[in-house]
Amino acid sequence: MKAITRHGLWLGLTAALLVGCASQPAQDDSLYQDLGGMTGIETLVDGLLFRISEDSRIVDQFADADPGRLHRTLSEQICELAGGPCVYSGDDMVTVHTGRNISEASFNALVEDLVEVMEYQHIPIRAQNRLLALLAPMRGEIIRL
Ligand code: HEM
Repeated sequence: MKAITRHGLWLGLTAALLVGCASQPAQDDSLYQDLGGMTGIETLVDGLLFRISEDSRIVDQFADADPGRLHRTLSEQICELAGGPCVYSGDDMVTVHTGRNISEASFNALVEDLVEVMEYQHIPIRAQNRLLALLAPMRGEIIRL
């Protein structure tokens, strides 16, 4: 009797678990994978920050930035956007970029740098386009004069 009850309990738990799983579809992490996971994303951010440091169009706007923090938060942001297992811990885009004189031209320059680095690092075109499409909606929060 006891065994039957326990068996029933297990069946119930298994059913509940299955229903729980079915109602929470697994997150699509295909872009995260295509970017090479966290290692690939950190390499991408390394490349971008280096590229920015050599870009006379925008480098001065990063004069007082904390490169260590920027590397960590930008990597987290891209990882989270791409469906990876990260939680962005930085400040919101409006707060961070307000008062930095960021024009449309500065924004475009940074995006150009990003594309160049993605090309250089042989990130597949489809992954490049997917990442750019995720960043594009932030434009209005970043261009602040
Ligand atoms: C798609 C475009 C961009 C994205 C996704 C982006 C994202 C970020 C992120 C995640 C941070 C870190 C926030 C934090 O640590 O709390 C940051 C900081 C910063 N961003 Fe951007 N950004 C973009 C464009 C730009 C542009 C175009 C400029 C200037 C030309 C810029 C200048 C800065 C500066 C100076 C900081 C450092 C702030 C600090 O350390 O106090 N960003 N950005």
